[in-house]
Amino acid sequence: MTFSAERALGGRRILVTGGAGFVGGAVSRRLVDMGARVTVLDDLFTGKAETIPTGAQFVQGSVTDHAMVRDLVAENSLVFHMAARNIIASTANPRDDFETNIGGTLNVLMAARESRPDRVVYTSSTSVYGNPRSIPINEDDGLVLLSPYAVSKLGGENYCTAFYESYGLPVAVVRYSNVYGPGQRPDNPYCGVVSKFFASVMAGEPLMIHGDGEQTRDFTYVDDAVDATLLAAIHPRAEGEVFNVGTGIETSINQLAREIGRAVGREARVEHVDRRDIDNIRRRVVNIEKIRRMLHWVPGTTLDRGLDATAVWLRASREGAGR
Ligand SMILES: NC(=O)c1ccc[n+]([C@@H]2O[C@H](COP(=O)([O-])OP(=O)(O)OC[C@H]3O[C@@H](n4cnc5c(N)ncnc54)[C@H](O)[C@@H]3O)[C@@H](O)[C@H]2O)c1
Repeated sequence: MTFSAERALGGRRILVTGGAGFVGGAVSRRLVDMGARVTVLDDLFTGKAETIPTGAQFVQGSVTDHAMVRDLVAENSLVFHMAARNIIASTANPRDDFETNIGGTLNVLMAARESRPDRVVYTSSTSVYGNPRSIPINEDDGLVLLSPYAVSKLGGENYCTAFYESYGLPVAVVRYSNVYGPGQRPDNPYCGVVSKFFASVMAGEPLMIHGDGEQTRDFTYVDDAVDATLLAAIHPRAEGEVFNVGTGIETSINQLAREIGRAVGREARVEHVDRRDIDNIRRRVVNIEKIRRMLHWVPGTTLDRGLDATAVWLRASREGAGR
């Protein structure tokens, strides 16, 4: 991130919902390092209080509590709305997902309509594309909602767009594609495939691949996702826009398994098991031309370097836990 981003964010009062989670924690840490006055609102559903950086204020509560959300949004000039029920929790309990992912987002936007922060950034997901007709996927390609999670994340997005169009609320939406990296805790039962594979290889256990492993994803390193998210908050051209955040590179799950084995220095043994109900997307890789062109963002970390950094972090955190 450039000096101008630090200037734009340092000293600001900023609310991060979901700031005890993986990506929200990384965003909060970067903001604190830039000198922002950060408040985290999180109900610790999957987040951990120790993820919240020193220097940030922590309010334990839910985005479904509209009075609390109203008060917190009113105290801040920027909002990163990142709190969400993840895809696995959502598939198990779509009503709970609805209340947080759609209801919580509506609470944030209603509060923002009242107190008018400079911007609300909403973190959506490339799961809204479902099984795309063609790849790489553009932001304005057709959306196919294959899970309650995709429905709720798009519901949040649609409310953001509606509040921008109806009330002139300055919003920006980023659609993340499979974010991974240091801070993604394998002890979180909902962590992504990268963390799960690392945990298995490090424990000398076989990697469980659901299906044939030829399904593909676009893996985004967490620091790159943070950069894109901060740019969406400060760049004048981001207002009212939706951006893919990925790498434009398609990686199969079998390839990922081999790369993780390499990063750990052990051969990854693989076992293929039945696909789960959430594994209904075959190929995914996004086009990142729009964010490159409009916000001048490009991902800076290749998959092999990102996995090496993740391995280093995981080893250090295991050693720390063992002390
Ligand atoms: N990690 C990814 O690959 C990915 C991909 C696409 C989209 N996203 C989106 O990015 C955001 C962050 O995801 P993450 O990977 O860090 O997940 P995470 O589960 O680590 O973080 C989500 C945080 O939200 C909190 N939360 C959940 N329900 C809440 C509620 N009702 N009130 C307050 N806090 C609540 C959780 O405790 C957690 O700390 C989410 O909006 C998610 O939908 C992530």
